[in-house]
Amino acid sequence: MNTQTTTAHTEQVEIALDDRSYGIFIGTGLLDQASSYEGIPSAASALVVTNQTVAPLYLRRLVDVLSSRYAAVHTVALPDGEVYKTWESLNLIFDALLGHGCDRKTVMFALGGGVVGDMTGFAAASYMRGVPFVQVPTTLLAQVDSSVGGKTAINHPLGKNMIGAFYQPQRVVCDLDTLQTLPVRELSAGLAEVIKYGPIADMAFLAWIEDHIGALMARDTAALAHAVKRSCEIKAWVVGQDEREAGLRAVLNFGHTFGHAIEAGMGYGHWLHGEAVGCGMVMAARLSEALGLVDRSFVDRLKALIERAGLPTVAPVLDAQDNVGRYLALMRVDKKAEAGEIKFVLIDAPGRATVRSAPDALVAEVIRASCAAT
Ligand code: NAD
Ligand code: GLY
Repeated sequence: MNTQTTTAHTEQVEIALDDRSYGIFIGTGLLDQASSYEGIPSAASALVVTNQTVAPLYLRRLVDVLSSRYAAVHTVALPDGEVYKTWESLNLIFDALLGHGCDRKTVMFALGGGVVGDMTGFAAASYMRGVPFVQVPTTLLAQVDSSVGGKTAINHPLGKNMIGAFYQPQRVVCDLDTLQTLPVRELSAGLAEVIKYGPIADMAFLAWIEDHIGALMARDTAALAHAVKRSCEIKAWVVGQDEREAGLRAVLNFGHTFGHAIEAGMGYGHWLHGEAVGCGMVMAARLSEALGLVDRSFVDRLKALIERAGLPTVAPVLDAQDNVGRYLALMRVDKKAEAGEIKFVLIDAPGRATVRSAPDALVAEVIRASCAAT
């Protein structure tokens, strides 16, 4: 490998959180480059958590590079899919940690997408009351969002990501090369979270995505590098001010209130998280319009970009008898809901988000329009 070339393409974004600060490394060839892991705590052992899809692609390379840092590098490959983001899978990680005699210095590595990252982070937060962990995200969604900021969780049948912890990784290593093997549907799902950063924080970035959506869909490395870096910068700016979502951080959930209802209502795994978020952003933009916060041209612009990213914008019918009721019931389980009142992330001016409730009648109108839209 040409280290010089690789190093020249490495960018770094800092998450500034006092003694929990860390770097996000973004570049090509980083997965099996020793310098990607320099400075991470040393220990006798490491545990790499991955899944059965990612393992054959990248596990050997990560284990090989880590073997020069840790005397024992153990691995566990979980079943693949959102439907396995459960207690049962979490226990497989604990089984591996305990079975291999891992101690409280053992460093955990999450190699995979957001499902592996969220579960590994939660396991790291709770094993022996906390061991260090590193995120090595291999999906676009994980590189631009889930690996950054310390939210970790598993799903409960009654609600998504309902059981979890805030727990920051020691580092995030985003190797852009891994995105070349991502299925196209997953690439699109990741683009939903990239697009999200535009309306909530940076309309110039939204315009850049509009200009580069072809290059992003074609997996052009330079375009991906910019998209990952700018997304991480915006997320770092938000998380640096509000790590535990006392307020501001909720804006990162633009599209997620409707999106989580779609995911849970369809059954986890039918719609990808990013697909549900993409459609959910159109619904949230429509609700913003219905409340008089943005005009129709903003909604149309966002919808057009989401469609160009290969994402669905027509919401699914979740219940043939009482579709609106089903959406509302699911959204009341959202973590932002207070005393049963649903809170939405809305756009109150292009590039700026706000969190507020909305009258059920208006929400119902948006659900009807979004499910019927063509
Ligand atoms: P995922 O982890 O299910 O990965 C998507 C698919 O791609 C899987 O089948 C996986 O095996 C496969 N895959 C991963 N890397 C690959 C590669 N390089 N080549 C080929 N296949 C690859 O899904 P995701 O979209 O990465 O993450 C979604 C999850 O992230 C959801 O559970 C969501 O709740 C969570 N999330 C968390 C946060 C957070 O802040 N913690 C933010 C956003 C989303
Ligand atoms: N993905 C939302 C958050 O990290 O807060």
